[in-house]
Amino acid sequence: MDYLKEFISKLQNLDHSKRVDNVFQDFLKLSTYAIAQQFYRSPEIEQNYLDIIDGYTKEQAEEFSKLLAFLVMALEEKHQDFLGCVYMKLNLGNVATGQFFTPYHVSKMMAEICFVDIEKQLEERDFITLSEPCCGSGAMIIAYAQTLKEQGYNYQNQLFVEAVDIDELCFLMTYLQLSLYGIPARVMLGDTLAWKFSQMFYTPMYFINGFFYKLKKQNKVPKTDTDSIITPTQLSLFKEFMV
Ligand SMILES: C[S@@+](CC[C@H](N)C(=O)[O-])C[C@H]1O[C@@H](n2cnc3c(N)ncnc32)[C@H](O)[C@@H]1O
Repeated sequence: MDYLKEFISKLQNLDHSKRVDNVFQDFLKLSTYAIAQQFYRSPEIEQNYLDIIDGYTKEQAEEFSKLLAFLVMALEEKHQDFLGCVYMKLNLGNVATGQFFTPYHVSKMMAEICFVDIEKQLEERDFITLSEPCCGSGAMIIAYAQTLKEQGYNYQNQLFVEAVDIDELCFLMTYLQLSLYGIPARVMLGDTLAWKFSQMFYTPMYFINGFFYKLKKQNKVPKTDTDSIITPTQLSLFKEFMV
């Protein structure tokens, strides 16, 4: 099945009264909230989800879950930047912020070029860290994770990623794709140059594989403006999850 073609056609036909970029953004938000909420269990996330889904009929809401199923099946098939392709095909890129994503095969080649000294690094510590300050839809991160896997490493345990983008769609696309590939990551919406952020989510694998403690052991628990983004409710649940 051509998942990309099916996904775009479903997206374009989901609600003719709305612009397709708005429907795409709603899809990304609903899917992000559905995944993150399993770990954050936050009233704010719940409310944000309900506010969006209220704008659609029951049938349309079901179409969103089918879109998520297409995304999952496409990512299961192979490592790729599926949402980045949707984004580029729908012409959603903002020229002002340089939103032209690197084609996946180029990201893969770059990941292979950068793949040096990993064995030595992993002899000295449990995992390696990767920073992507302008992540787009996360293609370079996915390609790096794929390369780690091909070389016999388990990126779900041996990699921690910090990804940032100034654009909300990019922030959401990266969060979703890294979550579904099981990449442990902290994904932030903000300006890398000013080091100011307005939203942040950890992917499920961060929690599942105990990265809070792994980072603490390496003195790498980040101390940034984002710490204040976590609400008290989230923080208590966060700690509970970490025990
Ligand atoms: C050329 S794209 C590259 C995306 C990705 N690294 C790739 O190779 O596919 C540049 C990205 O940087 C983001 N960006 C631009 N200025 C930024 C800033 N000050 N802080 C964070 N992200 C920024 C844009 O939104 C865009 O997604």
